[in-house]
Amino acid sequence: MNKFTIFAPMEEQVGVESVESRRILELLFSYMPKIAAERKMDNLLVLMADLGRSMVSADRCSLWLIDRDSKELWTKVAHGVNELRIPMDAGFVGYSVRTGEALLIKDAYQDPRFDRRSDEKTHYRTTSVLTVPLLDTAGMVMGVFQAINKQGNVQVFSQQDLERLALTAVYSAKTVESARLIAEQEATQREIIHILGEASEYRSKETGDHIQRVAEISYALAKYYGLSDEEAERIRLASPMHDLGKIGVPDAVLNKPGKLTDVEFGVMKSHSTIGEEMLKTSKRALLQFAASIAGSHHERWNGRGYPRGLKGEMIPLAGRICAVADVLDALSSPRCYKQPWPEERIREEFANQRGEQFQPELVDLLLQHWDEIYGPYRA
Ligand SMILES: [Fe+2]
Ligand SMILES: [Fe+2]
Repeated sequence: MNKFTIFAPMEEQVGVESVESRRILELLFSYMPKIAAERKMDNLLVLMADLGRSMVSADRCSLWLIDRDSKELWTKVAHGVNELRIPMDAGFVGYSVRTGEALLIKDAYQDPRFDRRSDEKTHYRTTSVLTVPLLDTAGMVMGVFQAINKQGNVQVFSQQDLERLALTAVYSAKTVESARLIAEQEATQREIIHILGEASEYRSKETGDHIQRVAEISYALAKYYGLSDEEAERIRLASPMHDLGKIGVPDAVLNKPGKLTDVEFGVMKSHSTIGEEMLKTSKRALLQFAASIAGSHHERWNGRGYPRGLKGEMIPLAGRICAVADVLDALSSPRCYKQPWPEERIREEFANQRGEQFQPELVDLLLQHWDEIYGPYRA
């Protein structure tokens, strides 16, 4: 017996019930991998609403989540469409939020709890309705599933539909909770990275927001270079730590007003390896990646950079990208020892350094998208 036998009962056993059970199982199996692979909350809401709608054969279905700060419920009904918001106590969903009860309504217009405003706004006619609250691990209502207008011969939802939507709600609640947890962890990680980056810039008295601008320019260049969203995002996250090693450079060198001696310049250069060593101790992939940027953002395409004198594609791509972003921002911003360079002179400098300090393709992309990248400095 193979493992699919359960879905293929013998011909004479196939009744309406088993066809329906099979449909539900197939639905769950087709949605679960999509839901498990999705990281963005907006997309998750759309996917889970689609699953709910198919589970109970409704015309419409939405998954509303509570926003306790604004006392509203919000949802996303389709990809690329703005989120919808309603007051937390509105209509049937509001009732389920308040009471934690599910509702099975045959005709919405016969029920005083019905809020007709959305029908009036959208010229839609709501008849049958199902609402099921979503409970978090602590048993608190976190949102509500709402299915509208049963499709098929019997245009009223059944008790079985309610149970199926409840099952979908349990699964969805867990998914939303873990997506929130991941989002929270990622936000924490981003903030810590940002603070670390700021700490190094703060000591070297760089101008405000240098870190942020380098991250954004690196991201833009990575995208223009053809990297995926995920890879570009990784560079945006890790590039703020490129100068972390400045923490280990003495003040007398880091903030010396005049020209550095050879010895002092050697000490200054060590920030690249210090940062790399600090970050390399971590087992986290993102910090390992940041280590490679810290250790390579002063390498030059022609091999005359530091600390290793790597040449061309031997230099990690993220380091090559960050090098362009870092220099662009340094030249475009005022520093305690210099004014920002005029725009034309910066363009010339990059053109001159094409294939010398910087990878030719990156300079081409920078000059090609100059207005988008340099634009913010003109304001
Ligand atoms: Fe640096
Ligand atoms: Fe920098």
